[in-house]
Amino acid sequence: MGALCDKTTSTPGVVLVFWYNTAMKLQIITLFPEMFKGVLGNSMLWKAQDREIVSYEFINLRDFGLGPRKQVDDTPYGGGDGMLLKPEPVVAAIEQAKQNDPDARVLLPTPRGKTYKQSDAKRLAAGQQGLIIVCPRYEGYDERITEWVDESFSIGNYVLTGGELPAMIVIDSVVRLLPGVLGGETSTEIESFQADDQTIEFPQYTRPEDFRGHKVPRVLLSGHHAEIQAWRAKKQKPLN
Ligand code: ADE
Repeated sequence: MGALCDKTTSTPGVVLVFWYNTAMKLQIITLFPEMFKGVLGNSMLWKAQDREIVSYEFINLRDFGLGPRKQVDDTPYGGGDGMLLKPEPVVAAIEQAKQNDPDARVLLPTPRGKTYKQSDAKRLAAGQQGLIIVCPRYEGYDERITEWVDESFSIGNYVLTGGELPAMIVIDSVVRLLPGVLGGETSTEIESFQADDQTIEFPQYTRPEDFRGHKVPRVLLSGHHAEIQAWRAKKQKPLN
């Protein structure tokens, strides 16, 4: 993240402002780092790292497994199907990530978390904090790991096989908001329609004007800014 650092000189009224950039550190704790390659290695998420706006770092949970078999999971107390992530490897991995970035915020994707929204993406992008995202697997995790977590979130009312896809969704939604990632490709005008969690973008069109008989709405060709704005305001959709 860019950080603003000001230094007042001894001359009254003169403030020197230095701008320095440090990449926002995104540390991902996972048993499956390979899953991220395609998503983080392409397009804007790749560019963001190339431009040193973010850094992606992987911590393989297996490295913190217990015993010769590097065990990371175990059966649930009280019985039940499936295996749970053990607390020792998860907390050791979080502690290593914290050593790399002591101020980082620890996120845990879980269907039990609060629903992740655009306002969360904005808040996380606007903060100066790095993120540590813990990706659970198997049937879940030992609840005691949540003592080391700042925020649990769900990406929707359905259950996935692990936290990797939700982690990628959070990364994508945050990184695209960081200054310098999308540049001119996203207009503040469009973003202003997404200022809350209530509404999403209006429909958009590009050339050709007539595609197989389906025409671009006339108002968009009119060049009349106020009318276009009014049309867009009317067409923006409420979120479900
Ligand atoms: N892990 C499994 N399902 C999930 C969901 N819907 N949201 C976040 N993490 C999950």
